[in-house]
Amino acid sequence: MAYSWTLLVILFSTKLSICGGDVGDFSPCLQFFYKSWPLKGLTGTPICQRYSNQYRFASLYSRPRRSAWFSAYVYSVPMGKRPSTSWKYEPQLAYPKANGNMALFPPGPLDVNVVESQAVDPDYINSSFSRGHLNPSLHHQQYDDRSSTFTLTNVVPQKAGSNDGPWETLEQTINKTLAAYCIGKAYIVTGIIPYKDQEHWINNRVAVPEYLWSAYCCPQFNNSLPPYLKSTFPTYAAIGRNDRNSTEEIVPVNKTAKKAFLGYDVKQMSLETLEMYLKQRFNTVVSVFYDSCNG
Ligand SMILES: *[C@@H]1O[C@H](CO)[C@@H](O)[C@H](O)[C@H]1NC(C)=O
Ligand SMILES: *[C@@H]1O[C@H](CO)[C@@H](O)[C@H](O)[C@H]1NC(C)=O
Ligand SMILES: *[C@@H]1O[C@H](CO)[C@@H](O)[C@H](O)[C@H]1NC(C)=O
Ligand SMILES: *[C@@H]1O[C@H](CO)[C@@H](O)[C@H](O)[C@H]1NC(C)=O
Ligand SMILES: *[C@@H]1O[C@H](CO)[C@@H](O)[C@H](O)[C@H]1NC(C)=O
Repeated sequence: MAYSWTLLVILFSTKLSICGGDVGDFSPCLQFFYKSWPLKGLTGTPICQRYSNQYRFASLYSRPRRSAWFSAYVYSVPMGKRPSTSWKYEPQLAYPKANGNMALFPPGPLDVNVVESQAVDPDYINSSFSRGHLNPSLHHQQYDDRSSTFTLTNVVPQKAGSNDGPWETLEQTINKTLAAYCIGKAYIVTGIIPYKDQEHWINNRVAVPEYLWSAYCCPQFNNSLPPYLKSTFPTYAAIGRNDRNSTEEIVPVNKTAKKAFLGYDVKQMSLETLEMYLKQRFNTVVSVFYDSCNG
């Protein structure tokens, strides 16, 4: 009896991995990683984020946290305004036979299997957290690429003081730096650092990150960099606070910052320093880019 149950479980999981071509495997979307080499050291459910029948970026999703560990994408100089689009979800997390395109929430009551498998709009409403994009729409040129970032598997619970303050400034700084000095492709990975002991949750369902982090790899850049940007190529990294109460060992607080943004500082650092903090918190070596982007 125990044997046949095990067999059944194996058969079922095999079936899931065969039918769910867009979940559980980064191979259709390796182009979003430098040298087709996804970040090493974190485990979760890979999602090749597909919108309107095209792959747009990649996320490593944590089913128990109902949010991503990271999203990886290729930067392109943005044009136009932030799209006014509705939030989407990934049907294939609940239904492995789904075609792998993200979808708009249909009107009416939510499907219980979808609610079980991922975060949904009501998790964020009234939560005191905003929907913080890991892959932000402002790092993309094409309208559909921008729209595709509005999926709940690409966001984490982020305090508005971070999302509208220092973290947004970071996204804009990276935009300006890459637009001006990155000649080839820029690969960006943006992820989260969980709390060390006591996890925080919204709605008892979606885990809140203590920090957000981001790193880019731009192997081909303009060598006539101004002095203040010399250390930001080919790689650059940063960690941002998502909790005013966090200690200041990783990111110190600027006590004279505007009240709304107080305690949500972002600290710039080398890729090596970021990986040191990731190793400390995850208790394992985390390598963000192939050969630290030196390849
Ligand atoms: C959010 O709070 C408002 C006011 O308390 C309430 O009317 C509304 O139903 C809440 N929405 C959700 C999704 O919990
Ligand atoms: C991003 O950079 C481009 C090129 O410098 C600029 O035109 C655009 O306004 C920037 N967007 C934002 C939101 O900073
Ligand atoms: C490199 O930057 C310098 C100074 O900003 C600029 O004059 C030059 O055109 C840039 N070269 C390329 C290839 O973008
Ligand atoms: C920070 O600490 C204050 C005072 O202890 C508490 O009221 C607040 O809920 C804490 N904030 C978070 C995000 O944990
Ligand atoms: C702290 O914040 C103030 C106000 O935004 C700013 O003028 C100052 O440069 C910041 N200091 C540091 C060390 O970042």
